[in-house]
Amino acid sequence: MKIAVAKEIDASEPRVAISPDTVKKFKALGVDVAIEPGAGLKSGMLDSDYTAMGATIEADAMQDADIVIKVKRPEASELANYKRGALVIAIMDPYGNDAALKAMADAGVSAFAMELMPRITRAQVMDVLSSQANLAGYRAVIEAAESFGRAFPMMMTAAGTIPAAKVFVMGVGVAGLQAIATARRLGAVVTATDVRPATKEQVESLGAKFLAVEDEEFKNAQTAGGYAKEMSKEYQAKQAALTAEHIKKQDIIITTALIPGRPAPRLVTAEMVASMKPGSVLVDLAVERGGNIEGAKPGEVANVGGVKIVGYTNVAGRVPASASSLYARNLFSFIETLVDKSTKALAVNWDDELVKATALTRDGAVIHPNFQPKAI
Ligand code: NAI
Repeated sequence: MKIAVAKEIDASEPRVAISPDTVKKFKALGVDVAIEPGAGLKSGMLDSDYTAMGATIEADAMQDADIVIKVKRPEASELANYKRGALVIAIMDPYGNDAALKAMADAGVSAFAMELMPRITRAQVMDVLSSQANLAGYRAVIEAAESFGRAFPMMMTAAGTIPAAKVFVMGVGVAGLQAIATARRLGAVVTATDVRPATKEQVESLGAKFLAVEDEEFKNAQTAGGYAKEMSKEYQAKQAALTAEHIKKQDIIITTALIPGRPAPRLVTAEMVASMKPGSVLVDLAVERGGNIEGAKPGEVANVGGVKIVGYTNVAGRVPASASSLYARNLFSFIETLVDKSTKALAVNWDDELVKATALTRDGAVIHPNFQPKAI
């Protein structure tokens, strides 16, 4: 059985789907690994690091591969090189991309979306949303510190005292929790808000202060799956009134708020941005999903009256070596479940809940229930 690792054709994607560590694990499983030349370069992983662990470097690695692994969804030009029937596993970004899903079905590949992995205990080690959001939360604080003209920690020196930076984290999921922890490590005074009651204790356990409208709606804001619901207009107005006063006094704001399948909630208006001191910095980690901050521009640092709004996309990719090694581990853990240990052959159990949740296409059709072509 052969796994091929594609070099990303999107020049803005520095991550790679395999690490030397996972080459070793695949080899131990009895699987051959062929990697396109230079696939890991932008993540600091050299071809020689991979071959040292038993991989081969092949320019046409995909042609006879049983499984192709990637970071991003393959484009049509890439699909043309894949064997019909091959499994293709990547971060597929399936919502709203029906034509791309059809192209994968037409190419005869079985496509799997890693970001649809259910959040159950067995699949924690395969949870790409968590592994990448954790790094994005960390990096958001580093970006903020880099753009901020002051120090984060309080410093008492002979020449005077520098106050600690005030950091406000909005949205306390995986990324937000790591942002709080990172900002605290840098010495900032941290506050945070979320609509899910469970986050209050998590925020406080990290040494930050929790701020939220804690009414009846708040008590029921968490879905059974652990995600946030879209809040009512009334709640959003109360939330905005509470946070507006707080935001005026902050140096740094990091927003991470998302609602599955919906646009990101707007949490910071242009007026709120204008109320902040010049030199303040906002980082919008939700910018790719519509943004939490008015005025955030994908891929740019906007300067609004001396206040910077950082709108970098693919923020986990700005820590590429760490992001790639965690993603590679997520992939290995999933693929391990698709291989028969004794025969070392591919043995996909199409009834397994992990397979059912992630499989998008098979035998020329889009099979995932959430992405069925609409009846005309
Ligand atoms: P996410 O990326 O979907 O959203 C980020 C945060 O934004 C969430 O905490 C959400 O409550 C918050 N948010 C949404 N609307 C908001 C608003 N109007 N104002 C303020 N905050 C708002 O969330 P993520 O990081 O994917 O985590 C979701 C849940 O999944 C959490 O409960 C987390 O602990 C849980 N989880 C479970 C795992 C497992 O069991 N294997 C693994 C990872 C996370």
